[in-house]
Amino acid sequence: MANKEIDEISGVETTGHEWDGLKELNNPLPKWWAWTFYASIIWSFVYFLLYPAWPWFGGPTKGFLDWSSRGQLRQELNDARAQQQALWDRIAVAELAEIRTDPALLEFAMASGKAAFGDNCAPCHGSGAAGMVGYPNLNDDDWLWGGTLNDIHKTIAVGIRAVHDETRDNAMPAFGRDGILQKQQILDVVGYARGLSGQTTAGANLDDGAIIFAEQCAACHGEDGRGNQELGAPNLANGIWLYGGGTEEVIASIANSRNGVMPSWDGRVEPTVIKALTVYVHSLGGGL
Ligand code: HEC
Ligand code: HEC
Repeated sequence: MANKEIDEISGVETTGHEWDGLKELNNPLPKWWAWTFYASIIWSFVYFLLYPAWPWFGGPTKGFLDWSSRGQLRQELNDARAQQQALWDRIAVAELAEIRTDPALLEFAMASGKAAFGDNCAPCHGSGAAGMVGYPNLNDDDWLWGGTLNDIHKTIAVGIRAVHDETRDNAMPAFGRDGILQKQQILDVVGYARGLSGQTTAGANLDDGAIIFAEQCAACHGEDGRGNQELGAPNLANGIWLYGGGTEEVIASIANSRNGVMPSWDGRVEPTVIKALTVYVHSLGGGL
């Protein structure tokens, strides 16, 4: 620009740019701004050298710190695994009751038990363990084979009518199919069994039903029909039905028997995982 123009009011040189009479002043950059600018240039150079920045010669750059996001992730995973292993080691030697009273172990067992439940048990028992017809609800206080920590641990480990030497096993006879009871006798005992939870059954003779129950059923289900957890015989008097409490369903249970199968988990998951599952399932069921 040939002739420099000085602004009259501020005494500062203008750049010569003008918009609708407004002229741009040629003030120098503030010092603090300029220094921040130089410092960030220097910092970017330092950063460039310390951290991975530029893929030279085909390989990934490492930077002088030898840091990488992968390496950091690997380190964090290893740390987490080591921490978990320490907790698994403690669970391996702890009694079930001890796990429940140690807050750190309990928290870990609950979290890993819940995860293992989702992987292994939810297909049959439902993701919330509420069960479905033939697959018991594990949230309620009604237990076929017992709801103490040790009962649950055994059920999970050895299964029910499963392929395992010590599996929980008890077979209710198929009273109809095997010709033990006649049709009317089945209806009578169905009437008696449903009557235990206050339901009425058309065409059933309850007196006859009571006699049949005492002879054929009480040995497993108890004289009062309240079941026997030693034998996995359900309580018939509490209105909770594994296979349904309607007349047709109860007839089917008695005529054909059910004898549901629960796999054994010994050898399929780690013993420590069975312990974690036990603590988790126990916590669902009201904890006896
Ligand atoms: C293939 C289906 C199936 C799978 C998978 C399964 N269960 Fe079961 N489970 C059953 C059946 C069926 C019963 C009821 C057996 C009976 O009628 O006595 C049962 C019963 C139980 C009981 C006893 C309930 C009571 O009232 O005493 C527990 C506890 C249990 N399961 C826990 C588990 C856990 C924990 C897992 C996962 C590790 C699991 N189950 C996986 C089918 C299954
Ligand atoms: C040898 C023992 C045994 C005898 C005897 C027996 N039961 Fe059972 N009963 C069981 C077992 C065990 C189950 C649970 C089956 C299962 O979980 O799959 C069961 C289940 C049932 C069910 C299904 C309950 C539900 O919640 O859906 C009914 C109903 C029933 N029994 C009624 C009877 C009646 C009535 C008799 C007599 C005529 C009888 N049982 C005799 C062992 C027995």
